Amino acid sequence: MTTTQRIAVVTGGTGGLGEAVCRRLADDSFSVVAMHSPENLQVAAWLETQQILGYRFTAVEVDVSRFDACVAAVESIHKQHGPVSVLVNNAGITRDAGFRKMTPQAWDSVLRTNLDSMFNMSKQVIEDMLSLGWGRIINISSVNGQRGAFGQANYAASKAGIHGFTKSLALEFASKHITVNTISPGYLRTRMVEKVPPNVLQERILPEIPVGRLGEPAEVAELVAYLASERAAFVTGANLAINGGQHMY
Ligand code: CAA
Repeated sequence: MTTTQRIAVVTGGTGGLGEAVCRRLADDSFSVVAMHSPENLQVAAWLETQQILGYRFTAVEVDVSRFDACVAAVESIHKQHGPVSVLVNNAGITRDAGFRKMTPQAWDSVLRTNLDSMFNMSKQVIEDMLSLGWGRIINISSVNGQRGAFGQANYAASKAGIHGFTKSLALEFASKHITVNTISPGYLRTRMVEKVPPNVLQERILPEIPVGRLGEPAEVAELVAYLASERAAFVTGANLAINGGQHMY
């Protein structure tokens, strides 16, 4: 099968990391579907900007925290494009607060969006991959799922859960030429990290990063492209850290 026929779906595809991933996969001749949340009202403008830059993406709305919404959204992708070869489960949110201030809503929305989404989306594409006899599922976790983070009990729990999911799917589908991997990025130059209070970022987080800077989304997208390629056929069930040395294990 040639890469020109392959469909890649990226959740959270219009965000900082998602956009870089969409572009990098398009550079590798994937036909890319960028999924975005219903709250995102800037999609038309985003698509236009990408087109000016030479990228032609399809955008599809989905609330990844809801199974029924994922069923409907991926049905529309099947109708328009056909079976999905690559799924990048990238959509994620933060609702940071110290544990004493963390509300049940903040816990629930982060767990539903960051962790339930893995199940909700992977279920929609696994039969495609089995029928194609080839597939890649790439789950975006976080350095904070590996080490925990002050004010992120919800986020760290959701991101730690992702790798258990990855390992189980990797075992179940390894013999079918479907690989399933986790990437755990550190702090990247994205809107999500821009929400961290500037003093916390400067005084507590940046000094922890030996490389001395935030990561670039394109640096993580490079790793996604590798995992999505033929070259990575022997990599499955891995959790690949890309964090500037902030956490080594
Ligand atoms: N480490 C240790 N102590 C910390 C701390 C930290 N990172 N952050 C805050 N504290 C301390 C404060 O110094 C303060 O101590 P005192 O009471 O002794 O003065 C106490 O905790 C309370 O601090 P705040 O008044 O700031 O508490 P808050 O409830 O208003 O805010 C917070 C706490 C929400 C955790 C805020 O500090 C914050 O937003 N921190 C950043 C969290 C973070 O790293 N988020 C990552 C987002 S990006 C991402 O998640 C992407 C990815 O995958 C990496």
